[in-house]
Amino acid sequence: MSLATDLVTEVKTVQPRKAVLDMPEYHPPLAGRDALRLDFNENTAAPSPRVMEVLRTLTAEGLTKYPEREPVERIVAKHFGLRPEQVLLTNGVDEAIHLMCATFLEAEDEALISTPTFFMYDVNIKMMTPHLRKIQADATLEFPFERFMAAITQRTKLIIVASPNNPTGAVVSREHLLAIAAAAPQAVLMVDEAYYHFHGESTMKDLATVPNLIVARTFSKAYGLANLRVGMLVGSPDLLKYVRKASSPYNVNGVALACLPAAVADDEYLAWYIEQVRVGRERMMKGLQELGVPFFVSHANFVLMQIGPKHKALVEAMHARGVLLRDRSTDPGCDGCVRITIGLEEHVTRGLEALRASLNEIKWEAQQANEPTGQQTVDAEREFE
Ligand SMILES: Cc1ncc(COP(=O)(O)O)c(C=O)c1O
Repeated sequence: MSLATDLVTEVKTVQPRKAVLDMPEYHPPLAGRDALRLDFNENTAAPSPRVMEVLRTLTAEGLTKYPEREPVERIVAKHFGLRPEQVLLTNGVDEAIHLMCATFLEAEDEALISTPTFFMYDVNIKMMTPHLRKIQADATLEFPFERFMAAITQRTKLIIVASPNNPTGAVVSREHLLAIAAAAPQAVLMVDEAYYHFHGESTMKDLATVPNLIVARTFSKAYGLANLRVGMLVGSPDLLKYVRKASSPYNVNGVALACLPAAVADDEYLAWYIEQVRVGRERMMKGLQELGVPFFVSHANFVLMQIGPKHKALVEAMHARGVLLRDRSTDPGCDGCVRITIGLEEHVTRGLEALRASLNEIKWEAQQANEPTGQQTVDAEREFE
């Protein structure tokens, strides 16, 4: 028997923590994405050209050094009108979620989220505590504010709310977020503003007056840096110092750190991309309405469509036409739902053309969608923003 086989036998006898055994797994369908990427809510084109310029200046020797996060945190803090102690750069919001759970959740604590929402909350919370309370939205998929408030208890320690939410595109008003923070002073409220740029309302300005609030932002979406993996947590220095303690000093790589100042400085690029998405989202929602496809009004860079039993056939037909969509039908309350990302004008055009042809090909009919009550299709004249 070889040494390698002996080791495998031994490892089998070692068990992970029970929480790790019990937690769900997240396997996004990343393989074979060589097509128009309307599946992961990424920027569909490219980041600011200034980022590409920085990349060209990187040296071989530079790659041999451990990354230094703090100087870039100072630059980012200044850009957002914050103090450096209020900013922690992270390896995407994914890591930010993990750090928040690792920092604040004991095994007996409760955490609170609404569903459907970003699945990584579930994964990371369950890694720490079995006491995850999920408040399911009704058929409108709007945030269930009253029931959410009623679910807060003395044991609630971490609350995570995405606004705009993924996969619904629904938002939670600032008033409601502040009410949640006030109702749970013993808990940290993390507002995930990954899609903030496509909506424009933020609770970042409330950090000075709401001590238990932490806001997460990503550079993966509007800034187009998903592959560099960089996000941030902003909040009171008193809370963030604990999260910083739980974080590796090298959590964000040096290539991302080198590019970030150029990315945040290019306001012109950011405004241009956001406008592309705003106009594209309006076109997509009007296009869906013309096709008779029910959908949920979105405030993000994607739209969730209610396709019904033919959801899988649609995703396959679109793939055959070189356009990737994301089947969300297994998300709670999203039976038959498919999500389409909004990007550059020409990508929206290609997406809409492929949708028209694919719906035709699969012989989709509006009544097959099995419309949920209260679902938000739009009136012909309605403006979206
Ligand atoms: C609501 C939400 N938060 C966080 C993320 C992850 O962002 P990042 O790429 O910064 O890890 C996503 C990605 O899709 C998301 O939808």
